[in-house]
Amino acid sequence: MAVFPQMRLRRLRRTPALRALVRENRVEAGDLIYPLFIEEGSNIRQEISSMPGIFRFSPDRLPAEVKEITALNIPGVILFGIPQKKDEMGSSAYDRNGVVQQAIRAIKKTAPDLIVITDVCLCEYTSHGHCGVIVDGNVDNDQSLPLLSRMALSHVEAGADIVAPSDMMDGRVKAIRQTLDEGGLGHVPILSYAAKYASGFYGPFRDAAESAPQFGDRRSYQMDPPNLREALREVEADIAEGADIIMVKPALAYLDVIRQVRDNFNCPIAAYNVSGEYAMVKAAAKEGWLDEKQVVLEILTAIKRAGADIILTYHAKDVARWLQSAQPLRSPLPSR
Ligand code: PBG
Repeated sequence: MAVFPQMRLRRLRRTPALRALVRENRVEAGDLIYPLFIEEGSNIRQEISSMPGIFRFSPDRLPAEVKEITALNIPGVILFGIPQKKDEMGSSAYDRNGVVQQAIRAIKKTAPDLIVITDVCLCEYTSHGHCGVIVDGNVDNDQSLPLLSRMALSHVEAGADIVAPSDMMDGRVKAIRQTLDEGGLGHVPILSYAAKYASGFYGPFRDAAESAPQFGDRRSYQMDPPNLREALREVEADIAEGADIIMVKPALAYLDVIRQVRDNFNCPIAAYNVSGEYAMVKAAAKEGWLDEKQVVLEILTAIKRAGADIILTYHAKDVARWLQSAQPLRSPLPSR
């Protein structure tokens, strides 16, 4: 190996153009998926207090937002519903006229090519706020599967391009795959939240989606944060059950998990840069403690460097705007 002074690693860092030439990872608008919170009702565009710059929209207010997203070349959105009525079985989750089903139709009318992904999970729709059905005080795995399958099917029937189960019940990918295939929808991909941890970083989301559990927590179904090998088992199981894209969530505190998944599997990997990760940056930037643009691009680049192909992020619109207005690399070569 060359050593100093033959080797000088600073040679390739001297100018913006040289740095760009040897850059190993880049974030592009085309990597990003923008989450949208859809509230049942009309004429709603309400900012979420713990997520500055992120709004809840009623379906009728989506067209303007969707036009902005497509103009920024962001390829897709993921939808979360906030229904007017919740019950024990989360029945509005699989209602043909549910809030997400309405939103899918509104988006497809405005922007037929925008990829519409739907989050498939019962927690926003159940009165108890858990991601499955409660039987004898426990979240019952097998009784939840048919409901999740119905929910996924109704999203696809409304026009969703990809369904993304996030409930962490065992066997849900298999159940959803089977339901879609039997319904003649074998061409629709599943993006599985395969390694989803029981994380404190979901706090702002639960305010936004009104989906906090009314008793207990999600530790009996979401993963225990210290575990890495278990994440590989989850991913392996979901791929075997028919997942097309697998997700690691959250992203920032789990970059090692993304890397391990990248090294062990060949399917596309998505990472969810979750609500708490967004809120931390926004809060610090507001105080003037961090440069928001620099830090956000650094975080998203780190997620790609760890091995993710796709990033779900609330920063997507800001990032796409920054990238569009990026200056060409024309600065003169400085002296050493
Ligand atoms: C639904 C779901 C959650 C998130 C995505 N889907 C919340 C949870 O599991 O409690 C979190 C997303 C975020 O924090 O941005 N189960």
